[in-house]
Amino acid sequence: MYVARTLDELVAAVAALGPDLALIPTMGALHLGHLSLLSAAGRESRHVAASIFVNPTQFNQGDDLARYPRDEDSDLALLRDAGCDLAWLPSVEIMYPGGDEIRIVPGSAALGWEGDARPGHFSGVATVVAKLLNQVRPACAFFGEKDWQQLQVIRSIVEALFIPVRIEGVATKREADGLAMSSRNRFLTPLERQRAPALHRCLRRLARAIADGDEVDVCLATAREDLRLQGFSVEYLALVAASSLQAIAENRPGARLLAAARLGSVRLLDNLAVSPLR
Ligand code: PAF
Repeated sequence: MYVARTLDELVAAVAALGPDLALIPTMGALHLGHLSLLSAAGRESRHVAASIFVNPTQFNQGDDLARYPRDEDSDLALLRDAGCDLAWLPSVEIMYPGGDEIRIVPGSAALGWEGDARPGHFSGVATVVAKLLNQVRPACAFFGEKDWQQLQVIRSIVEALFIPVRIEGVATKREADGLAMSSRNRFLTPLERQRAPALHRCLRRLARAIADGDEVDVCLATAREDLRLQGFSVEYLALVAASSLQAIAENRPGARLLAAARLGSVRLLDNLAVSPLR
């Protein structure tokens, strides 16, 4: 596996690997969810690259950049074992050479939900992903569906900026009890970890009820209360149109549930399709 830490090393490694390259952008602290992105990429492309960069511009005040888990040695070992061909580990100085005053302002996909909860977050994500795509120039890039809104923001900026890359979403990887895998799960206390899968169970129940034709508003209100009683502080729980992310009051093709809820100090995100897009 090539390990590139400078742009010259990156250019040499990308040239050696050739054109059929897939990129998996990550912030490290890799887990099985990331490895499922690597497997999906490996099925589609001859070579797979992963970037590890804890992007400061996507953390806003409430988030704790310093607290974000970092373990480069274990990440590199995981990537090697998973058959990754290139690890790109740029520094902040490489990614933001003139500081961070030049930013992408994403469009409507970034409004509401995570956009409201974390002002500026998607501008940071859009900016760093555009930079990574321009540096590595992969044929395709893979992102987890767990961050559903992020995936829509990335699709929209790639389209708007004519970035020549195919964006692929990969189904959320879950623990055996249904909890969506996330680098932040390690911060759950043992009791919170026991309670956390209730979020996914709640989304499954809700999706079934809505698909069966139950009143959406009533189902959402009951589910929010249910989660509150189980110790969650619900930030949002909504039925949305899968690509525009507009809240919808009735089930329709492409309807998706989006949720963010806190358990103690950890913010859990999850989402689930109610009706497939036709
Ligand atoms: O999903 C993430 O890990 C990050 O938001 C990403 C896409 C790597 C950009 O920093």
